[in-house]
Amino acid sequence: MNKKSITIALGFVVLSSAPMMANAADVEAGKMAFETCRGCHSAAGYSNAYPTYYVPKLGGQVPAYTVAALKAYKVSHRSHGTMMANSYDMSEKTMKNIAAYLATDVNGSKKARGYHGNIAKGKKLAQSCMACHNDDKTAKATNPRLAGQHANYLEKAMKDYQSGKRKNGMMKSMVEKLTTEELHDIAEYFSSLKGLTSTK
Ligand code: HEC
Ligand code: HEC
Repeated sequence: MNKKSITIALGFVVLSSAPMMANAADVEAGKMAFETCRGCHSAAGYSNAYPTYYVPKLGGQVPAYTVAALKAYKVSHRSHGTMMANSYDMSEKTMKNIAAYLATDVNGSKKARGYHGNIAKGKKLAQSCMACHNDDKTAKATNPRLAGQHANYLEKAMKDYQSGKRKNGMMKSMVEKLTTEELHDIAEYFSSLKGLTSTK
């Protein structure tokens, strides 16, 4: 090979591998970036002070949803002081790395904290949700997993959709007609399933 063709060949390698590297999330970097988050998200049973609900479990979450959630805090579609502070200067790359790291934590076994809703009633009510929240992390790649999430967090999330505090028109329409008791039962049902983990 003469010098020119080597340059061209190298140029080709650089060009063709660059997009791949940009897309591949770095699990190790994500693990490191997540260190500052553990105080809340890896402390089993850690509660948000007011209103009181358990800090959501993130382990085993769908990566695209984790990124979407962090972006939602960043642009204030979800208002939560600490989470907005944690995401406002976070790059998309770091979000993706963290999401990829969290998705590796798949051994969901710890039961979430429920609070005495009616699981059987909740299961019936949740049938209309299963098209999107069936826990399939690959096929429905952007919808959050709910299985194994803490019940009072799920209820709080649904109330935030109802009130518009959390801005998502589609989820608002899914839950706006449900009573508090029904939200309670649905949350209890999802929290009784094996799924998400409090990342260690
Ligand atoms: C002071 C405690 C605290 C810290 C530190 C914290 N979080 Fe959170 N996080 C919360 C609470 C509370 C919520 C739920 C807020 C809400 O209701 O929207 C939350 C929500 C989230 C969600 C959305 C979960 C869902 O199911 O929608 C993600 C993703 C998240 N945090 C990631 C992180 C990452 C990444 C970090 C570190 C860079 C971090 N958090 C640091 C308390 C914390
Ligand atoms: C068409 C698909 C679809 C259907 C059907 C659906 N959801 Fe959702 N759900 C989503 C998406 C997408 C999000 C994430 C929205 C966002 O970013 O805030 C979500 C978010 C949620 C969250 C917040 C999760 C979290 O970690 O914060 C809860 C709770 C929830 N849905 C409950 C339900 C319930 C209960 C039903 C049935 C009554 C339902 N959903 C039906 C797609 C759907």
